Amino acid sequence: MPHSMIEPFRIKSVEPIRMTTREERERLLEEARLNVFRLRADDVLLDFLTDSGTGAMSSRQWAAIMEGDESYAGARSFYRLEAAVRDLTGYPHVIPVHQGRAAERILFSVATRPGEVVPSNTHFDTTRANLEHSGVEAADLVVPEAYRLREHHPFKGNIDLARVEQLLETRGDRVPFGMITVTNNSGGGQPVALANLRAYRELLARHGKPLVIDACRFAENAMFVKLREPGQESRSVKEIAREMFSLADGCTMSAKKDGLVNIGGFIALREPRWVEAARNLLVLTEGFPTYGGLAGRDLEALAVGLEEVVHEDYLRYRLRTAEYMGEKLLRGGVAIVEPTGGHAVYLDARDFLPHLAPEDYPAWSLVNALYLEGGIRSVEIGSVMFGRRLDDGTETYAPMELVRLAFPRRVYTQSHFDYAAEVIVELKAKAREVRGVRIARQSRWLRHFTAEMRWAT
Ligand code: F0G
Repeated sequence: MPHSMIEPFRIKSVEPIRMTTREERERLLEEARLNVFRLRADDVLLDFLTDSGTGAMSSRQWAAIMEGDESYAGARSFYRLEAAVRDLTGYPHVIPVHQGRAAERILFSVATRPGEVVPSNTHFDTTRANLEHSGVEAADLVVPEAYRLREHHPFKGNIDLARVEQLLETRGDRVPFGMITVTNNSGGGQPVALANLRAYRELLARHGKPLVIDACRFAENAMFVKLREPGQESRSVKEIAREMFSLADGCTMSAKKDGLVNIGGFIALREPRWVEAARNLLVLTEGFPTYGGLAGRDLEALAVGLEEVVHEDYLRYRLRTAEYMGEKLLRGGVAIVEPTGGHAVYLDARDFLPHLAPEDYPAWSLVNALYLEGGIRSVEIGSVMFGRRLDDGTETYAPMELVRLAFPRRVYTQSHFDYAAEVIVELKAKAREVRGVRIARQSRWLRHFTAEMRWAT
């Protein structure tokens, strides 16, 4: 038996990518004010900015697009999606939205009140921002292993049950529900164990609180459970995913990840209590409840995506991609967050660029260097994203300086990853030449998207 793991698909439609020269990239990055968010995607060779909405659809999904029913109300495509979501989650109430953050905004608007607090392992940025926008505190209570970059633990996405219990005992009257992100994006796509989910659910239930899953990467999480959790190896991923959903009362979903589509999302709920209010709000900003801001064809593609994403040959290849990239980098002496998660590999920029100080924004500098070296676009998860300029002009820095390489689904082949690993390992050999950066202009909120930078002199 050959042991090479191959991409479990063949390619029917191709999209050229453009090689640029180093000189061109230097000019393009200067024009983008040293901020890769400001580059044109055509000037990027391998785009690892995000795995969100960047995947390739299958021929079955493209065929389903032609089946789209574009009726304003009661479209057949909605009922097809509703059936697919019910089959997977067991939740009867399905509310389509245009993407994950719309699901968050609508659910939080109807299910929380100012002054409340919602625990999770780690809230994703938009989840935190939507809670805070509603006057609600977002409490990140992930297990401490999550913050130890190189410590191996099979489920670094688990929630710290002791801290949840403490929160429920001291401020339980202020907790409307608990959340959990599977996999935990902010922690590197680290999975949550079924046992942890079950214990979290029991703890919340004892205090009469529902549980809501942020289900963006539910299938990757279910596959990790199959591979790593004792007693789960002979179950199908779909069965495991169904059990995950059965332990909660509802979910918010960005279908741009494990829905295998370029746009879409939904809220799904077991009980009717928030449903009517959510649908009323949906009509205000997203659209009629049977399309929720999407076209009928989008609903069709998503219904098929939800079936395809739990295929085990796909998921085995998917998780192997990050693992393979991680192995190559570790062999090349590059420090990463270990073990690798589902959708991304995180480089430790402090280790990569030890000559840079916090005020040089090492993770941002590394993102720039990867683009200059090989046309690779990644994203900074460090002090530009999480630090703050205080009113007195001083800066606070993030606890970690990471660079995320997130992998679009079914888009790049093994040789693309081989190339990327080579670029990174070669860059490591001349890391001392990488210069720090300074912020030239920034906005008050989410400054990393638009900041203008300059080289440190
Ligand atoms: N929850 C998680 C865990 C996410 O990773 C994201 C998006 C969202 C919610 C919001 O969904 O983008 O459809 O509105 N994550 C992307 C990323 C943007 O790059 O990690 P959305």
